[in-house]
Amino acid sequence: VSGQKKLFVKTYGCQMNVYDSARIRDVLAPFGYAAADTPADADLVVLNTCHIREKAAEKVFSDLGRLRPFHQAKEAAGGRMLVAVAGCVAQAEGEALRARAPIVDIVLGPQVTHRLPEMVARALRSHGEGVFDTEFPAEPKFDHLPPPVAEGASAFLAIQEGCDRFCTYCVVPYTRGAEYARPAVQVLAEARRLVETGAREITLLGQNVNAWAGEAPMGGVWSFGRLLRELAGIPGLSRLRYITSHPRSVTPELVAAHREVATLVPFLHLPIQAGSDRILAAMNRGHTVADYVRTVAALKAARPEMQLSSDFIVGFPGETEAEFAETLAVIREVGFIQSFSFKYSPRPGTPAAALPGQVAEEEKADRLARVQAELATIQTAFNQACVGRTMPVLFDRPGRHSGQMIGRTPYMQSVHARLPQAAFGEVRAVRIAAVGPNSLRGEAADVEPRDAAE
Ligand code: SAH
Ligand code: SF4
Ligand code: F3S
Repeated sequence: VSGQKKLFVKTYGCQMNVYDSARIRDVLAPFGYAAADTPADADLVVLNTCHIREKAAEKVFSDLGRLRPFHQAKEAAGGRMLVAVAGCVAQAEGEALRARAPIVDIVLGPQVTHRLPEMVARALRSHGEGVFDTEFPAEPKFDHLPPPVAEGASAFLAIQEGCDRFCTYCVVPYTRGAEYARPAVQVLAEARRLVETGAREITLLGQNVNAWAGEAPMGGVWSFGRLLRELAGIPGLSRLRYITSHPRSVTPELVAAHREVATLVPFLHLPIQAGSDRILAAMNRGHTVADYVRTVAALKAARPEMQLSSDFIVGFPGETEAEFAETLAVIREVGFIQSFSFKYSPRPGTPAAALPGQVAEEEKADRLARVQAELATIQTAFNQACVGRTMPVLFDRPGRHSGQMIGRTPYMQSVHARLPQAAFGEVRAVRIAAVGPNSLRGEAADVEPRDAAE
């Protein structure tokens, strides 16, 4: 393969897929594929898909339909457009995908990203019979992927993949496979390289990220807390985050890391999913509401400015109105400052899909609206409470007006401010002046920027 070729990658779903899409671009770059921002005229289109809810999975098929005219135009002009489906829909559907979408040339699961160039070469040689690989190889892909560089001030780093928890609603243990933790040496090397190439914030990724326990540099095993401490010592790194963690894996050692490691932001995405113990048990979450509330209390004791966000599922099979009301109650009790909430979506092959008492669509929609209203009230109040405070903001995007920049607080709030160009890509102290509909407005503050305190 040689010459300049156009690659279009579309990403669906979670941050892990964002990370994987960057790796897809990385593995193809040496073969002359340069990223394009439209599928028109592309030589290779990769859809990096998500299977978590029915809507996400169906979107892929409508997008494949929308690709067809581009595909035809390319062929009419004497060229060829290869179409690859990657990610969790690819893993879940495998070869069956081609029956619904014959336009697809390549189906590759999330664990074989490193094999994509060879699959592309095979697809180019073939006469449209399709190239498939949804293996979970014994040898991890991470050992074969090129070392990533930062694409901005905020970078993702996958340290763990897969999930062994088997929540009864969830496809992830099937699509991503068993838990795998990358060795500490690999994680540290990738983090250093990200910081050297401009990252100031690193978000560690994993489906069950705080379950990470990996091979230590000199043998033995490091805990997640230990890894955080080592990463925090990298010069030039201002902020460390991790997502998504499970309440069951918040150990006393991890709580201690939040007390002692200033680089860790005082903000944690810790999904509770529901506020009823009966529903949590039916979900196989492995924790009660009281366990969760205790964990939050420990985190807040360790780091008083700690705030939480969560994921919520409404209308899990058998959820009564009274049980749903307990979700509203726990939202008020914990005071989640922002969250994601979803209507329960039955997924093929998961135990919950076969449970009796599936909740009617209108009821789910109604509960979702009530959860979102509750969450919005708290979020607005928190944003209002930030006015007048000085907060550290990592600026990583130009604003719409000249001289304006956009950045994020430790709590992921968007902040617009006018600052000297040198602030771009750095953390600066900003006084929050006002709250807009989707963001905060800030002014440069004359103090040392510190993520550790406000
Ligand atoms: N590994 C992460 C993310 C899982 S998917 C975690 O464990 O939190 C992200 C969120 O999607 C989940 O937290 C859950 O709230 C939601 N989700 C998963 N399966 C779902 C389903 N079948 N229906 C609706 N929401 C679902
Ligand atoms: Fe899915 Fe549960 Fe694993 Fe999260 S912890 S990925 S919700 S099975
Ligand atoms: Fe979706 Fe797979 Fe992520 S199902 S949420 S892309 S792990």
